[in-house]
Amino acid sequence: MIEPALPPACYTDDKWFELEQHRIFGRLWLFAGLTQQLATENSFVARELGGVPVLVQNLGGELRAFRNSCAHRGMPLQVAPCGTRRLICPYHGWAYNDDGSLRGVPNAKIYNMCDATKESIRLQSYALTTVGNFVFVNLSPNPLPIAEQFSEDLLRILREVSPYFAPDVSYTHFACNYDWKLNFENVLDWNHAQFVHSQTLAPLLQIESSGTFSAVESNQSKLFLEGSPLADIVFSGDAPLAGKVALKDVSRIGRSSMPYSARWFSSLFEEPCDRGAFFACNIFPNVNFGSIHGESFYLQQYVPTAAGRIDYHSWVFTTKLKARVPPQPHLLWGIHHAEKRVIDEDAVLLTALQKSLQAADSIGLMGDHEATLHAMGRWYMQELSEEGAA
Ligand code: FES
Ligand SMILES: [Fe+2]
Repeated sequence: MIEPALPPACYTDDKWFELEQHRIFGRLWLFAGLTQQLATENSFVARELGGVPVLVQNLGGELRAFRNSCAHRGMPLQVAPCGTRRLICPYHGWAYNDDGSLRGVPNAKIYNMCDATKESIRLQSYALTTVGNFVFVNLSPNPLPIAEQFSEDLLRILREVSPYFAPDVSYTHFACNYDWKLNFENVLDWNHAQFVHSQTLAPLLQIESSGTFSAVESNQSKLFLEGSPLADIVFSGDAPLAGKVALKDVSRIGRSSMPYSARWFSSLFEEPCDRGAFFACNIFPNVNFGSIHGESFYLQQYVPTAAGRIDYHSWVFTTKLKARVPPQPHLLWGIHHAEKRVIDEDAVLLTALQKSLQAADSIGLMGDHEATLHAMGRWYMQELSEEGAA
């Protein structure tokens, strides 16, 4: 067994929260949205990431990330969480060009603004990169290369699976009263599924008598079988129990068997990419993405808003529908409802766990099988402990 790497204060204390916002969320690439939501001119997503209001918008066919804050008096340029609208401030109508420079000011005379000032005005922009359909933003003025944050195998999975995604996405978000690290640990903790999700997720999975998921022995996969683009992917094995942890190794990729039987909606889809299996990418710091048979995909993000609090964002979408099948919003809603049930099963317990950590001096023990959770804690301490202890 191993001693937990993180003391309870890391999950509950404002001091650690501030450090994380700066050292983790202010420095790493953060998931901001899906290109499916940003496919048309002026489509946008507005997010709060690392305490910063971020706007990602399709401008002239290119995705750009800005601080969602007008150069006049700071009003959010887009108020809705997503939609399609030109880059014009709703407060006094200042309009911006695709590069964030000022395009025009209604009633310009009343501002008494000289040309030089007008030309110097620009929205604050952030680095943006896409990996397949996944849009990442970095709030740092000197972003680290994304290949330093994620393994090539993780990036390859995101790239290769993206062409299967249908354009329609079901998206929602809600507040939860527990720390983002509890959620990251929870998605790495496969041993909870049979207890917490005994009626929902667990029956879909093939769980061995040891509690581990079974390996995929045979299935129909367009991604992972011999001759397929991801045949040589190396899934994350057990993490070492001690020692320094590389950032790349905090994120994990896994795949296991999931016995397949066609469901009522299966015939609506084109051939899915991974029938008979379940794969998941635990993308540090705060995203969990996975596939159920390649027929449907879930994407979850737990964005810290204060110590012990998150905004939970949840996306659900399917593989592409056959050419003559119209969009199926009721199907998306149904899958999302099932997904939310599983999330709620976790949320009830994690909220209780968060409360118990509030008054705790220490956190029990971890088994060797929880080495991946422990590795996340060790990396966190490597990055934050000096100031955290101060
Ligand atoms: S705050 Fe945007 S135009 Fe005034
Ligand atoms: Fe769970």
